[in-house]
Amino acid sequence: MQTQTTVAYTTRRTLTAVAPRRLTLDNINPHVKAAKYAVRGEIATKAEEYRVRLAQGDKSLPFDSVIFANIGNPQQLDQKPISYFRQVLSLLENPVLLENPESLRTTFGYPQDVIDRAKALLADVQSVGAYSHSQGAPLIRDSVAKFIEQRDGFPANPQDLYLTAGASSGVSTVLNIICDGPSAGVLVPIPQYPLYTATLSLLDAQCVPYLLDEHKAWGTDVNAIKENLSKAKAAGTDVRAIVVINPGNPTGASLSAEDIKGVLEVAAEERLVVIADEVYQTNVFAGEFISFKKGLRQLQQETPGKYDNVELVSLHSVSKGMVGECGHRGGYFELVGFDPEVAAQIYKYVSIMLCPPVIGQCLVELMVNPPKEGEPSYDLYQKEYNGIKDGLRSRAMALYEAFQEMEGVECQEPQVSICPFSYRSRMLINQTTGRYVPFPNHQPPHQGY
Ligand SMILES: Cc1ncc(COP(=O)(O)O)c(C=O)c1O
Repeated sequence: MQTQTTVAYTTRRTLTAVAPRRLTLDNINPHVKAAKYAVRGEIATKAEEYRVRLAQGDKSLPFDSVIFANIGNPQQLDQKPISYFRQVLSLLENPVLLENPESLRTTFGYPQDVIDRAKALLADVQSVGAYSHSQGAPLIRDSVAKFIEQRDGFPANPQDLYLTAGASSGVSTVLNIICDGPSAGVLVPIPQYPLYTATLSLLDAQCVPYLLDEHKAWGTDVNAIKENLSKAKAAGTDVRAIVVINPGNPTGASLSAEDIKGVLEVAAEERLVVIADEVYQTNVFAGEFISFKKGLRQLQQETPGKYDNVELVSLHSVSKGMVGECGHRGGYFELVGFDPEVAAQIYKYVSIMLCPPVIGQCLVELMVNPPKEGEPSYDLYQKEYNGIKDGLRSRAMALYEAFQEMEGVECQEPQVSICPFSYRSRMLINQTTGRYVPFPNHQPPHQGY
């Protein structure tokens, strides 16, 4: 009896132990394996290893902290959240506090406009713990439409706006709709932010790179776009869209009206959907930011007909600039010139994910509709906003000046609070002297980060 039990037990164990796992590296989605995402790549992994070693008390490293500068993560780099935003969010998360407005004002120093804004938002979304409309809360989309109209001088329709979990999820939505198989291609600027190449890999679609022109302050080079487009077409790629990152990451370029016009002209002639990633629009400190929507509307006025069917998606986010709330995952995209039947499919697609995070949507509302002059929060908001803006600018200039002194590195003067350096060689930090030294025989990388 004793023996039989042991055998049965052993058999069960043996059966369990030998059953192989269903998933291995060889049978998962090959497109996930093929995707490269440098911002989570080798350097980031090494940095994390160092962080863990330091946290465990390792004293053998010649530094005592690790700064993760590989992704634009403002608050990890000490950017303070804007008080007004967090005051409103705190009431949205804990509306019971609104039952005691007197304490909020006197004990916690919450200005009345914070209380009013929280009440107005709650009246629309009911609870930040509830799903919203899949396209985003109506009140917030109205505010975004007003913001765009004020920025560009051309109207925007809330029906064409989709609130998102950051710009990344908007890009993923749009590329999922655009790419219909392995022959579909999308023009992507190089250097770029690797979201685009990675998402195209996931979709098994073609990335058609076009080089930005370093000697034109990293502006777009229409000839380079046309040349790469022709090559891709000749190779059988059905090029359907062009991505423009404006202001550029990692280039720090802010495109001129002429560059924008050039891209829209190619888009009209070649029937390309324009994907304008404008998440850094408030980081511009030299010249003015011009949105692709404004550029398109102006061209449509100047040359009736030619640009009428240009399809444009423009994206914005709460992650960057003075808002810097990337952990809250909020953003939006606007569709311009899309076939209503395609827009209906986009709506269906976003509905599958139910809705973007509602607290992120509320941050979008605060970003596009901040305190106005005369309201109690206005002065502090302005002070904090301008303080962050000045800080970002001086950091960009400090980096620019440091890069200028480095052997092997060239750097264009930044127009935006992102530093447009280019590698002539890979740089290493000499751990004894703390100085940067070039790493020889290294080709410039083809991806930005
Ligand atoms: C150019 C660009 N687009 C999109 C994103 C992603 O932004 P979000 O946090 O809104 O998804 C980033 C993040 O660094 C970026 O640099």
